[in-house]
Parts: sequence; C-alpha cells; structure tokens
Amino acid sequence: MINVSKIKKGIVIDHIEANCGYKIFSQLGLDKLDDVVVLMRNVPSRKMGIKDLIKIETDIELDFTILGLIDPNVTINYVEDGILKKKEQLTLPKMIEGILECKNPVCITKHQKIDDIKFYLVNEKTKEYRCEYCDTKTSL
Ligand code: CTP
Ligand code: ZN
Repeated sequence: MINVSKIKKGIVIDHIEANCGYKIFSQLGLDKLDDVVVLMRNVPSRKMGIKDLIKIETDIELDFTILGLIDPNVTINYVEDGILKKKEQLTLPKMIEGILECKNPVCITKHQKIDDIKFYLVNEKTKEYRCEYCDTKTSL
C-alpha cells in the first residue's frame, strides 16, 4: 500500500467514513491551505473495513464544528514534535446556528427574516434538532 509518513506537527483526521474524505476536505477549506495536506481514500481499517483519512502538516488551528455535522464518528489526532498529544472524539453539536432551516410552514422564521436561527439537539441517534421558535423537529 502507498506509504504516507508520520507528521511532525499538525492534525490527522482519522476514521472518516469511506467516501466522505473529499467532502470534509472541501468543507474545511483545506484546498486553501499552503501547508502539506494529504487525503487518503479507501484505507483498510480493522474497525471500519475501509475508511478515509486526512493528514494536515500545519501550525494553524482549525475549527472542526462543521465536522461533527458531516461525520460525527471521526477522530481528531493532534500531533506535536512528532508525538500524538491529544485524541478527540467528535460528537454532534448540542446547538447549531445558521445552518438548518425550520420545516414547519407556519413557523415565524418562515414569515419574518430571522438570521441565525438556533436548533437544539434532541436525539443523538436520529440526529434530530428542534427549532428554537416553534420546537418542530428537523433531522440533519
Ligand atoms: N500519526 C501521524 N503522525 C504522527 C503520529 C500519528 O500521522 N506523528 C497518524 C497515524 O498514522 C494514525 C493516526 O495519526 O493514522 C492516529 O495515530 P495512532 O493513535 O498512533 O493510531 P491508532 O492507534 O491506529 O489510532 P486509533 O486507536 O484511534 O484507531
Ligand atoms: Zn420553527
């Protein structure tokens, strides 16, 4: 198999569902970085069969909130001085703002221009969120 070396400083996004790697790559805007970034697809994995994986050799901090929405099962590995310093398991955000739209046709947000409507997580399994104005549930 293709050998991609360990990194010195940066972030490894591991356990990405196969085929989701490119989407995550785009959503995080990794094409705009000047750093070395590697997207590996269809990597054999004991846990997952196959998975995607992204390695980013960088100093900058990235915001992974959006990742929890795309693929909550990924692992974020933080590497410093060639050593794995921290492993972070993502979860669905408890609250999201400005991404979902309420599907209740009589919700006030459908009739008045309201920016950044908040949705609160009500069910982790079904990925359901409730509208802060009318409590109607919408799934991701
Ligand atoms: N990694 C890297 N550079 C480093 C250290 C780790 O690129 N200096 C990468 C490894 O190649 C691996 C990921 O970071 O893809 C996680 O490393 P590690 O925790 O050592 O691997 P696993 O034990 O397989 O992780 P898990 O238990 O989360 O599956
Ligand atoms: Zn609503």
